[in-house]
Amino acid sequence: MTASLQELFPPNLWPIHQTDELLSPQLVVFREHLRNNLDTMLRIAGPNALQRLRPHCKTHKMSAIVKMQLDLGITKHKAATMAEAEMLAQSGVKDIVLAYTMIGPNVARAVKFRQVYPDVNFMVTVDTAESLERLSGQITEAGLTIGALVDVNPGRDRTGVRELEKVRDLYQRVYQAEGVTAAGFHMYDGHFHQSSPEERYAAVLPEWERIKGLRDELEASGLAVPRIICGGTPTFPVFAQFDDPALELSPGTCVFHDVGYGTKYPDLQDFRTAAVVFTRVVSRPTENRVTFDAGTKSIASDPPIPERVYLPAIPDAQIVLHNEEHLVVETSRANEYQPGDWVVALPRHVCPTSPMHKEAVVIENGEIVDRWPVTARDRQLTI
Ligand SMILES: Cc1ncc(COP(=O)(O)O)c(C=O)c1O
Repeated sequence: MTASLQELFPPNLWPIHQTDELLSPQLVVFREHLRNNLDTMLRIAGPNALQRLRPHCKTHKMSAIVKMQLDLGITKHKAATMAEAEMLAQSGVKDIVLAYTMIGPNVARAVKFRQVYPDVNFMVTVDTAESLERLSGQITEAGLTIGALVDVNPGRDRTGVRELEKVRDLYQRVYQAEGVTAAGFHMYDGHFHQSSPEERYAAVLPEWERIKGLRDELEASGLAVPRIICGGTPTFPVFAQFDDPALELSPGTCVFHDVGYGTKYPDLQDFRTAAVVFTRVVSRPTENRVTFDAGTKSIASDPPIPERVYLPAIPDAQIVLHNEEHLVVETSRANEYQPGDWVVALPRHVCPTSPMHKEAVVIENGEIVDRWPVTARDRQLTI
């Protein structure tokens, strides 16, 4: 039997004592849950966790969290934006994959990145011969080198190359391209959402065998494939079951986890919701309505309204309106809430919510212990 929202997200998991010191709406990170999530990620990744984990920083974008990961011995990291890559480098990471194809001015930014952070092994993805040529041309002109991974499409059809023939051809080109080091494959499979771990395994296995087969063939012909980076939070437990020295695992969301993943995946229920939005009641417009100050500028409009937020203190709350600065719910318990009262709101999808905040207030044992800037929320840091 699947657990209810009330069982999965009991209100006592997010205690805050000094609420007078908190502005609202405010992103709040619970350090004990975050630590639990990092430990759980390491445990799921298995005995070689430190060799194979390459967590994605897009969920938190915070230097403080990257430093916690480095302290745990997690040295490989993944980013989606140039600002995230720079945040990783500034935090002390020396092995960075920017899982994005460089286009427009980003090609020059990647070159600049190599100049500014020469001791970082910096890799980007390519999925066409043209993107490879652009990269090779500009990096060679600067007298530098950069790593390139071929982005493989495992059926998600977002980016990447699907046909193995074309993957092979592009990888051979990467090998020959001047200024470019062939760094392996990148394969993100965000379309595998099966709740059942067995069904997820069955979906992932053929994609893994497909790319592993090509890797074996390329290596037999003398072309090294140093890494194959796979999987997000739902599928990294599957990939973790495969024993392959090139395999790297790149979960992102599980660092904070959220209501979406928390309800969907029974095998991931050791993760805790570590980032929430602290919000206050601003109005009680009708008998059964409570209006909070957590509008769409503090909790992202993703997913659609009925599912967007869960309020552990008011489990029967139904969202009826979500405007820029107002979250309006209907509940049988509306009369228990007055303007000024606070609750924590759990975004169903936390990743687009964290960059809406300049900083996160950090709580431990109910006390405010720190404030962490959301370092890479901007599109550009210095490069
Ligand atoms: C390329 C890439 N890798 C890894 C991840 C991490 O996946 P998840 O958020 O499910 O952990 C994402 C998520 O969007 C992604 O786009």
